[in-house]
Amino acid sequence: MRENRPVIALDFPTFEEVKAFLAQFPKEEKLFVKVGMELYYACGPDIVTYIKSLGHSIFLDLKLHDIPNTVRSAMAVLAKLGVDMTNVHAAGGVEMMQAAREGLGEGPILIAVTQLTSTSEAQMQADQNIQTSLTDSVLNYARKTAEAGLDGVVCSAHEVEAIKSTTSSNFVCLTPGIRPSGSAIGDQKRVMTPSEARTIGSDYIVVGRPITQAENPVEAYQAIKEEWNG
Ligand code: C5P
Repeated sequence: MRENRPVIALDFPTFEEVKAFLAQFPKEEKLFVKVGMELYYACGPDIVTYIKSLGHSIFLDLKLHDIPNTVRSAMAVLAKLGVDMTNVHAAGGVEMMQAAREGLGEGPILIAVTQLTSTSEAQMQADQNIQTSLTDSVLNYARKTAEAGLDGVVCSAHEVEAIKSTTSSNFVCLTPGIRPSGSAIGDQKRVMTPSEARTIGSDYIVVGRPITQAENPVEAYQAIKEEWNG
C-alpha cells in the first residue's frame, strides 16, 4: 500500500506559518501532511478543516492512549473532521485499539505507535518493566496492533522488514527519520534516505525539516518525492 507522496510533517507553531508554507505550492499539487500535537492544540479542529478545504490529505498524529470508551468517542470526533490517517499508542492494549477502530470507522487509516524511538532499551526495561529486547517489544506491539484490526504502525525504517515478516506484507509501515542524501540530520539519530526506505518496503515516509526549512520547499519536496518514487 505504498503512498507515492512523502508525508510532510507540518511542525509549525501557528496557523499563519502553516498557511504561508502551503501557499507556496501550486494549487493542483495535492499534498499529504502530518499535523502533530503542538499545532493541533494551538489551532484546534480548524487547522484540519482548513487543510482539508485545500484538498490535501491529513495524518493527525495525536497518539491517543486512554480507556477504550474515551478513545472510541474521541475517534468518532476525528472521523467527523475528515482525517485520512490517525494513530494511538499500542500500549493502550488490544481492547483500546479495537475501540479506536470502531470509533473511527473503516475509512481512515489507523496506525499505532509501538515503542517511541526516543525510548532506549534500558529505559524501557527500567520504566515500563518490560524485560525483553526493545525489538521484541516492538514486534509484540506490532502483532497486537494487527490482531486489533488496525492498518499498521509508525516505526523506524530499520524495523520495517522484521515488522512485516511478523505481521504481513500488507501491514502498513510509516517511517519518519528520513533524510535525502547530503542533508542535515538534525536531532534524528538513525536515518535513511527516501530510496533506501523504498527498498526496505516502507509504505509512507514522513519528512519534516528537509522540506519545511528548505530555502525552496517546493523544489525540496519534488526532489524527495522523485527519490521516493525511484
Ligand atoms: O523534521 P523531521 O523530518 O525530523 O520530522 C519528523 C517528524 O516525524 C516529526 O514530526 C517527528 O515528531 C516525527 N517522528 C519522528 N520519529 C518518530 C516518531 C515521529 O521523527 N519515531
